[in-house]
Amino acid sequence: MNLLEFVRGCTFDDFLLLPQLGIVPSRDPEAIDLSTRFSEHLTIRRPIVSANMDTVTRAAMAVVLAEEGGIGVVDRGFRAGDIAPQVTEVSAVKRTQHGVILDPHGIVEDALVSDALALMKKTGVGTLTVVDHAGRLKGLLTERDVRFVPRDARVAERMTPRQRLTVHVGPISSADAESMMATHKIKKLPLVNPDDTVLGLMTARDLITQRRHPFATRDERGRLRVAAAVGATGDYLERSAEVLRAGADALVIDIAHGHSRVMERAIEQIRARFGGVELIAGNVATAEGATFLVDRGVNAVKVGIGPGGGCTTRLTTNFGVPQVEALVQARSAVGDRVPIIADGGIRRDGGIAQALLFGGESVMLGSAFAGAQETPGEIVMKSVLMPESQKVVQVPFKVFRGMASLAAVRDRLDLEEADAHEVEAFGAEGLEVSVPARGSVRTIIHDMLKHLCSSISYGGACSLKDMQERFRANPERYLVKLSAASRTESFQR
Ligand code: XMP
Repeated sequence: MNLLEFVRGCTFDDFLLLPQLGIVPSRDPEAIDLSTRFSEHLTIRRPIVSANMDTVTRAAMAVVLAEEGGIGVVDRGFRAGDIAPQVTEVSAVKRTQHGVILDPHGIVEDALVSDALALMKKTGVGTLTVVDHAGRLKGLLTERDVRFVPRDARVAERMTPRQRLTVHVGPISSADAESMMATHKIKKLPLVNPDDTVLGLMTARDLITQRRHPFATRDERGRLRVAAAVGATGDYLERSAEVLRAGADALVIDIAHGHSRVMERAIEQIRARFGGVELIAGNVATAEGATFLVDRGVNAVKVGIGPGGGCTTRLTTNFGVPQVEALVQARSAVGDRVPIIADGGIRRDGGIAQALLFGGESVMLGSAFAGAQETPGEIVMKSVLMPESQKVVQVPFKVFRGMASLAAVRDRLDLEEADAHEVEAFGAEGLEVSVPARGSVRTIIHDMLKHLCSSISYGGACSLKDMQERFRANPERYLVKLSAASRTESFQR
């Protein structure tokens, strides 16, 4: 079968997938391997990515995505020239959890209790390592040690001294740290170098959190991973430097038309300045667009022009490619050289399995997460007329908007400097809508993963990778093109 010809002009709702002989005993996401690559060198255990949109991904969303095995991309939709807010979001994700705290906050032994209290307040940390002037561990000081104590007392008088602590020399695995904590009934385990200088600190709280999220996307230090979006003009180099310094694990150069000279220049500049940083670029929707990016050395390609829920590009410009065709085109051009992120247009969970079969290694979701508790923005109450009862009730809503919508662009501009007429007529390519507020994105993700595992079961496979390989080896075994009537039968309820 010539897959490209078969899917020409088609998108998700044009197909169903034929059920195959099921081989998995259950559809449990804990038992079925869903691991995939977000980018060339960054593996994730679940193929879900949250979109870099200012009504979708800030720290709260990115933390849950990483805990659940996916990854969030923090948007750059803050006021132009203002890099600090994005940096704050990225570092908030990186500081949420640790395997080992490699730079624990410390204080010298002859400091005063008032200094310790001030440091605890400033950092929000309740345990300080106490060191001598050569940086050698002398003890631990907790909030309890300094409660109800004269503020001019010395730290050394209040700390638990080194000789009463359980300390480990050198690095240690999480499992060994857990058993040391159990044996010695302790909650904190300081790590030291052979010369007794502080190497790190492990806490029971961090180890418990790690156990609670066994699929989480973590870096080599046990911190949650997060990506950050940058542009291709303006402050993008400075922004890249700052978000990388804050610990971002990947940069996503995200512009509406990624197959362009400005993108080419941005990739060149970022590579020249930041070398081997994990670099993702988009969006493109054709074979040439995808090849263009891969040939210039990116580590993943983001595919999708115009399918997004908050998107009006196709209406306003008449350009775009139906998303299934775009994914097949990109995949056929790129092969296995780098992963593809299927970005946009997924309006029902079944679309996730399709996007992952037609070409995506992961799916990027915006509107599917709209209204979730972890999205930025306030809840507003709106009066809604209930059709059955004809009663007006108050319903909580949140805003979801395209990044090229008038409202999003207006928020990014400095209105005092911008010409108001120019802003109104800047040529919006996105929508702003109100969506009902709903619960945690964690529940939404769990539901999606169960549905994806059901797809794998129907697809006669034992893992996501297995299903992708079977499909790509033999797409005609799977694909049913729908008539208008079968589309209605399938998707209209
Ligand atoms: P979904 O369908 O998941 O898509 O909401 C999310 C993706 O939509 C894209 N996006 C836009 N596209 N104008 C566009 O043409 C916009 O204003 C806009 N805002 C977001 C983006 O790729 C996102 O990941």
